[in-house]
Amino acid sequence: MGIPLGSTREILDRRAGEEMALNDRYLNPQLGRIVRTLGYDRRWVAGDGAYLIDDRGNRYLDLLSGYGVFALGRNHPEVAAAIEQVMDARTANLPQLGVTLLAGVLAEELVARGPRSVDAMIPTNSGTEAVEVAIKLARAATGRPRVLYADHAFHGLTLGALSVNGNEEFREGFEPLLPGCDAVSFGDLESLERELGAGDVAALIVEPIQGKGVNLPPPDYLAGAQERCRAAGTLLICDEVQTGLGRTGSFLALEHWDLEPDLICVAKALSGGMVPIGAVLASRAVMDRVFDSMERGVRHGSTFGGNDLAAAAGLATLRVLEREGLVARAERLGALLLELTRPLVDRYEIVREVRGLGLMWAIELSPPRGGAGRSMWGMAERAKPGLVAQLLTVPLFHEHRILCQVAGHGMNVVKALPPLIVSEQEVRRFAAAIEEVVAAAEHMPSAMARLGWRMARGATAGRRRSPA
Ligand SMILES: Cc1ncc(COP(=O)(O)O)c(C=O)c1O
Repeated sequence: MGIPLGSTREILDRRAGEEMALNDRYLNPQLGRIVRTLGYDRRWVAGDGAYLIDDRGNRYLDLLSGYGVFALGRNHPEVAAAIEQVMDARTANLPQLGVTLLAGVLAEELVARGPRSVDAMIPTNSGTEAVEVAIKLARAATGRPRVLYADHAFHGLTLGALSVNGNEEFREGFEPLLPGCDAVSFGDLESLERELGAGDVAALIVEPIQGKGVNLPPPDYLAGAQERCRAAGTLLICDEVQTGLGRTGSFLALEHWDLEPDLICVAKALSGGMVPIGAVLASRAVMDRVFDSMERGVRHGSTFGGNDLAAAAGLATLRVLEREGLVARAERLGALLLELTRPLVDRYEIVREVRGLGLMWAIELSPPRGGAGRSMWGMAERAKPGLVAQLLTVPLFHEHRILCQVAGHGMNVVKALPPLIVSEQEVRRFAAAIEEVVAAAEHMPSAMARLGWRMARGATAGRRRSPA
């Protein structure tokens, strides 16, 4: 036994500074190594709107947003107040053999904001759990075994969701995964049609915009996929865990293509980032086929699903999104960010593409055409695919105090998911910072030397600090 536990406030005050040692000892030491090697090992003490604040009072513009959960910014007071109100009301949370008000109102509000095709909600506690539910519902509703997913897709990391994950690096070592799950090429209707032909496919699951790499579909792909699924009796599952709740400039990204899926997964931003949450919106036909009798009334569920804290946070998030006009703001500021950063493609040899929709944005790098830069790129890629992207993210963090991420394993794509409350001035600041780090990265040998030096320093600092 360690020190007597004390209240949360006491733990936060007395044990501040022990985060990394505790992580390395009890949580995930490899994550600790990554964070130290990149020099990201700040002691974060607070979150405030679009900013993370370290123990020296430095404010970092957070364009990672906790992987997209902080659409309203960190610690939004209205979401905090909603949670406090639930606590104050001492609600009859989770009666289990009974039903509650807040989950019902959240379902009503989400269904009202969804496409006409959905009529009901199944609450979950995370994005990956929502995906599990969608897969189960699709199989049970159709009586068919197979599920199709797109290459490069990311739907979460539990076993069912992993079975429809199009990235080998996540799957490797965890097989055998669910049988009957097969990849189709994102954007290719012909391969989809071929797979649907056998008549045994329960569902196609697809992210309207892929989170790994920020890949946008060809213009007619999603509507074409929906049409082909319908014709084949296959359900369409839209995974809006990342794209939902205003991220792309519409409440759900599927609105950009007028889709009417049978199942929609949401999570992440739905609770304003304050408590775990997720939900599946489902058509009445699917619900009635799966829960078709009293005996089968609880054939799927989850102990904490629809709990009062999550539901209240969800309702507060919907209120704030609307009152503050954040969806339209995401559309406007996303367009501005693209307008400011797309010209980099013409200005810099190493910028292949700048893309995005709303406040889901990415820049993709490509090798310089020749000279020392090109051979340096080749060396870096052989040493560690995707390393070149760190030439942008690491100086953004250290020199500009901006946090964003590489968009996936082994890819030279840098991605930003700004909170939807980001200001125009912050968007301009980010665009200027991106141009500065791209310009520096174009001088590849010196940029690589600086990155190498920083990473070596971070790694050795880690060795010095890590517990025996
Ligand atoms: C599109 C998509 N689906 C599902 C998930 C999994 O969500 P969670 O991490 O809440 O399980 C993610 C997470 O990044 C995601 O981006």
